[in-house]
Amino acid sequence: MFESKAGILYIAGIGFFVLAFVSNALVPALMYNDLPEQTVEELINSNLRYQFEDLARRYPDSFKEAYGESPGGEAEHDAWWNEKCAEALRYGRKLYVGEGCWHCHSQFVRPVSNEEQRWGPVSRSAEYQNELQRPVMFGTRRVGPDLSREGGRRSNDWHTVHFFRPLDLSEGSPMPEYPWFFDGSPDKPNARGLAIITYVQWLGSWQESYPYYEDYVPSRERPEEEEDAEADNEDAAAEDDA
Ligand code: HEC
Repeated sequence: MFESKAGILYIAGIGFFVLAFVSNALVPALMYNDLPEQTVEELINSNLRYQFEDLARRYPDSFKEAYGESPGGEAEHDAWWNEKCAEALRYGRKLYVGEGCWHCHSQFVRPVSNEEQRWGPVSRSAEYQNELQRPVMFGTRRVGPDLSREGGRRSNDWHTVHFFRPLDLSEGSPMPEYPWFFDGSPDKPNARGLAIITYVQWLGSWQESYPYYEDYVPSRERPEEEEDAEADNEDAAAEDDA
């Protein structure tokens, strides 16, 4: 067999296949086997809680119908919000899979093609070590934008209108309408609508560079930056005067 070139190439071909399998599948599987996987409850953070409570403020009737009302008492109150938020996340992920959102949206910012500038920080492997990424939602196609940093990029009411009728917000959008996320109009999201919005607001909510808008004050307030911004404005005004 080793007398012919074909024989050598044949053995080499199988050899490289085995090597690739060992280095790309077996070794990582063994290395990361014991790494704890985060549960949904552990994934809840203050940015996400802000968005979830914001849904309750904006759509009180819909929210009450889907999740009921928070009990009194501060400790119970907090536990209740976390529990409902986890419920929404699990259901939202189910919808994301079932509705085939992953046919059109990826959840992976690659370290190439300046993707960092378009979507935000490049994805890290640790971000996928959790219950909501089983199976991982990398996606293979990008008809629409990557969603791994979608949390906080848009407000909840933007999302309701967009899911109800994408064309109202994005000219020529090929994204389907999701009327079954609502009870007839965009200001009445049902349990599905509330869950899918919670899910998209979760994506990237763990990032340091979480964006914010409207009256949202992030948990890590940034008074220094604000002062800088004011100083810059004054400088600019002084320049204008000159
Ligand atoms: C046929 C492909 C397609 C499917 C299926 C689809 N989308 Fe989209 N989506 C798009 C395109 C294209 C855009 C960009 C234009 C726009 O904003 O509508 C978009 C935009 C978005 C945005 C706004 C991103 C931003 O900040 O600009 C979100 C959020 C989103 N999609 C979530 C979803 C979710 C969740 C689902 C499943 C329920 C879904 N999409 C299904 C194609 C799709």
